[in-house]
Amino acid sequence: MKPTIAPYPAARARRTRQSEAIRGLVRENVLTANDMIWPVFVRDGEGIEEPVPSMPGVMRRSVDLIAKAAVEAQALGIPAICIFPNTDASLKTEDCAEAWNPDNLSNRSIRAIKAAAPDIAVMTDVALDPYNINGHDGYVENGEIVNDRTIEALVKMTLAQADAGADIIGPSDMMDGRISAMRQALEGAGHHNVMILSYAAKYASAFYGPFRDAVGASGALTGDKKTYQMDPANGNEAMRMIERDLTEGADMVMVKPGMPYLDICRRVKDGFGVPTYAYQVSGEYAMVQAAAQNGWIDGEKVMLESLMAFKRAGCDGVLTYFAPAVARILQG
Ligand code: PBG
Repeated sequence: MKPTIAPYPAARARRTRQSEAIRGLVRENVLTANDMIWPVFVRDGEGIEEPVPSMPGVMRRSVDLIAKAAVEAQALGIPAICIFPNTDASLKTEDCAEAWNPDNLSNRSIRAIKAAAPDIAVMTDVALDPYNINGHDGYVENGEIVNDRTIEALVKMTLAQADAGADIIGPSDMMDGRISAMRQALEGAGHHNVMILSYAAKYASAFYGPFRDAVGASGALTGDKKTYQMDPANGNEAMRMIERDLTEGADMVMVKPGMPYLDICRRVKDGFGVPTYAYQVSGEYAMVQAAAQNGWIDGEKVMLESLMAFKRAGCDGVLTYFAPAVARILQG
C-alpha cells in the first residue's frame, strides 16, 4: 500500500505534531514495563551490592539481594529477570563443571527469586564463559573452540537450570546444533513448558566489553570469539541463523547487540513474525551513562528514546540494564 499525501498546503505534516495530545493520538509505538527483561549480575556472599565500575548504576548482588531486586522488579511490572553469574576465579576450570552444579550462583539465584517473587519469569544464560578458565563460551582444545563436546556441557547446564526452576533458557554460546540438543533434553526430562530464547543472531562485538568486566571474564579471555559469534558485516547470515534456531525448537529469538543492529531486528520481525528481542548490551548502556555523567547528553531522554527505537524496529521486548529506571519513570 502506497501512503497518500496531499501536496502542501492541503497536507501540513506539522498539524499532527502541534501538541502533546495530538502527538499522543497519532503515536505509532509505545514503550511499557512489559517490554523489558532485566539482566542482573550475581556474586557470592551475603548482603553485598557492589558497583560495576564500567557500568555506572549497575550492581553485582549477592543471592539474597538478587531476590530482593526481583521483588522490586515484579512490583514495577517488569515481566522477566535474567541472571548472569560472577563466578569466583577459584571455581573456573577447564572442564567447567561449576556450570551445571545445582548449587552454583545462578541456580541458587533462580530458587531464591522463585521463592521471593513467584510472578516474575526467570531467564538464564547458557554458555561456558563464566566457568571457563580461558573465558570462552565453549571448551578449548589445542586452541580450537570445539563444538560438539561443548553442546554436551550446555545440555547439562540447561537441565540444571530447568530443575532449579528457570522459565526461559537463554543460550548465548553460538555453538551449532545446541538448540535441538537442549530442546530434546528438556522434553526428555519433562520440562515441556521451559522456553528457549535463542541468542540466534549474536555478533562478535566490541560492545560486550563492560559485561566481561561485570562477570569477571575479561582477564581470563584469550583471543576473540570470532569463530563462533557472527561477523558484524553480515545480515543474510542472521536470517539463516534465526530460521535454523526456530526449526530446532526456539520459542523466541534475539538479536545482539541492539542499537547498531536495528536493521536485523526489523528483518527478523518482518521475515518470521516470531517473538523478537534485542539485547541493549553493556557497551550501549555504558556509552549512554558515560555521556550523561559528563553532561553531554540528557541521559534519561536518551535512555527512553533508545528503547523506543527497539519497539519501532519491531522488537517485542528488550533486554536492558535500564529496566528498573525506565519502569519507575513509566509508573510515574
Ligand atoms: C556470554 C555473554 C556475553 C553477553 C551475554 N552473554 C558476552 C560475550 O559473548 O562475550 C554480553 C552482554 C552485554 O554485553 O551486556 N556468553
